[in-house]
Amino acid sequence: MALSLYSDKVMEHFRNPRNVGEIESPDGIGHVGNPVCGDIMELYIRVENGIITDAKFKTFGCGAAVATSSMVTELVRGKSIEDALGISNRAVAEALDGLPPIKMHCSALAEEALKSAIEDYLTKSRREKDSGSEQTA
Ligand code: FES
Repeated sequence: MALSLYSDKVMEHFRNPRNVGEIESPDGIGHVGNPVCGDIMELYIRVENGIITDAKFKTFGCGAAVATSSMVTELVRGKSIEDALGISNRAVAEALDGLPPIKMHCSALAEEALKSAIEDYLTKSRREKDSGSEQTA
């Protein structure tokens, strides 16, 4: 049966995804898509003093994409930006007790969404810093 391809944990996160939705005025947004399957993932982060205090997602995609989005938002909460950048798609898949090889690209999308949200946060904070130093100059 197709369902047996997935671990209980994947199925659980697919059926009851954690942290679905948007964060109002997020500190970073990641928006990624896979051109082959057409799935889309948006990931929002709140950062306070260099720590990711909140993460939410919206995913239009397959069950594995939903489960990996859900897991990545769980893994990233409470992590520093540096530690969050070290979260690989393998770590996300392992936290879900594995994914079938054919579905590993779905976890790659979750890693990309996270990195894209962090990149957005870093770009915004650099910009704020620059405009702050211009004002004080
Ligand atoms: Fe596209 Fe899973 S099939 S992300």
